[in-house]
Amino acid sequence: MKIVKELKKILIESVKALEINIKEEEIKIEHPGDVNFGDYSTNVAMVLGKVNKINPKELAESIRSQISDIGSQIVEKVEVAGAGFINFYLKPEFLIKEAESINYEIEFKNKLSKNGNGKTMVIDYSAPNIAKPFGIGHLRSTDIGQAIYNIYKILGWNCIGDNHIGDWGTQYGKLVAAIKKWNKKELNDLTIDDLEKLYVKFHKEAESDEKLIDEGRDWFAKLEKGNKEAKEIWQKCIDISLVEFDRVYEMLGVKIDFIHGESFYQDKLEEVTKKIISKGITKKSEGAVIVEFKNMPPAMLQKSNGTTTYFTRDMATIKYRLENWNPDLIIYEVGNDQELHFRQVFETAKMMGWTPSEGLVHIAHGLIRWTTGKFSTRKGDTIHLSDVIDKAMEKAEEIANKSVVDKKLSATEKEEMIKSVAIGAIKFNDLSSDPRRDVIFDWEKIMSLDGDSGPYLQYTYARGISVLNKTQLKEQKNINKIPKEINAEEMALIKEFYKFEEKIMEASERYSPAVIAEYLLSVARKYNEFYAKNRIIDEKQENFRIFLTKTTTSILHTGLHLLGIKTIEKM
Ligand code: ARG
Repeated sequence: MKIVKELKKILIESVKALEINIKEEEIKIEHPGDVNFGDYSTNVAMVLGKVNKINPKELAESIRSQISDIGSQIVEKVEVAGAGFINFYLKPEFLIKEAESINYEIEFKNKLSKNGNGKTMVIDYSAPNIAKPFGIGHLRSTDIGQAIYNIYKILGWNCIGDNHIGDWGTQYGKLVAAIKKWNKKELNDLTIDDLEKLYVKFHKEAESDEKLIDEGRDWFAKLEKGNKEAKEIWQKCIDISLVEFDRVYEMLGVKIDFIHGESFYQDKLEEVTKKIISKGITKKSEGAVIVEFKNMPPAMLQKSNGTTTYFTRDMATIKYRLENWNPDLIIYEVGNDQELHFRQVFETAKMMGWTPSEGLVHIAHGLIRWTTGKFSTRKGDTIHLSDVIDKAMEKAEEIANKSVVDKKLSATEKEEMIKSVAIGAIKFNDLSSDPRRDVIFDWEKIMSLDGDSGPYLQYTYARGISVLNKTQLKEQKNINKIPKEINAEEMALIKEFYKFEEKIMEASERYSPAVIAEYLLSVARKYNEFYAKNRIIDEKQENFRIFLTKTTTSILHTGLHLLGIKTIEKM
């Protein structure tokens, strides 16, 4: 980012010297797709040429010669290309200095942490529903949410993770009804699978017995009124579910600061409903109360039997978060099937004057799809995360078995590796495409050691560590000997390093951990090319090539941890 700032400064100075007006917003600076066109490139001469009726190529030339007159600490040369692009090439010494600052992880993190500037963000993620096993549907929210949390955190924001578990609403009335009707076990002996079966049975039976739906509704009304029996059964369902969720979070290595399930807002719903009604933005409709909008369908604030809705509870939630934490930003990491819901929630908060809607973001993630039809499960329709993890473990074990032969991993190391590879593979798949897009779940690709995968990055990291372990130099500030000649693979690598900070910033601005995932792949590919073509430990080059290796491992380490993926030293 600071490089882009510096380049803009140089450009503005040069353009002004030519007595042409320029505004900073007019300047777009990007990395050209092809490195032969420099490290950064701008089309500003074309933009200004058009406005000022000057031939863009000539203008670009004049700007270029101004820039050479001014000189720069970071730019080695400037070229004009095509119809008037200005391409910048950065000085190798500068690139190496940048790499050096990343190399020392603590220094790098200190530098990054200046960005947040006391700002606070709340992120709503994971949010599974009780009485159901943790499904693949909530995996993306968990993975992406945790990565976004980590990214903002490293940038120095004060971050608050809030798990808005689904534990309130008509469906839990249905569950209570189902337990009352069909359960033969002691409440204490019920498992999460039992609860799911009961819920599924309820819906099957309800197809032919309409009265059931009413019964479910009535039980929820009882719950909202504090009926003792209803509450007891419901509480049991929560306890069973939380044990299951904890097990999953433990496996995924996820820790969420708070759990405020929907039921947490019970005692705040009446007040919030009254406030919204008294603002005059609601209407009675067939006994229910709805909020109307200019260009969206209405949202239901109160059902005709007086019960609250998902919407009511989200309004109470937003109010609570604003009052309690005073955040600058609230992020909701929830599937894109809830897009309308969040537009309604945000718009209502704005109409209530609680917060401007710019501080509210919905990262509407896409679905996970399978390459060949459906994932086969033991238990029927829904895909349980534990089944997916089990299968990933099997595949990771194959990798470990191959590795044990020549690396002699101890039993614990092997176990640790299997777990890290399996979870890393699943997470990376989730994170490596933009959240808003669907992801394809393809076992071949996910577990591949030489493709765009989590294991590939873990493997590259372990490779780097094994190089470092063979040398004494890893702990030194070791860039005292920059070789006179930097070869193509070394240069390609150096030209990746300095982008790290920029990518972390971009990931936060676009709410997309995929920016970091793609970047790490690119660094790893460059490192592996360099590794394949060069002897790293040899007399002359040792210092510099170890430095490149060290910087690569630092980037992979920090980057993978941002994505919530563990690194392994031996693989
Ligand atoms: N439990 C909900 C679901 O599974 C997601 C909750 C998302 N967060 C929120 N504040 N509405 O669909």
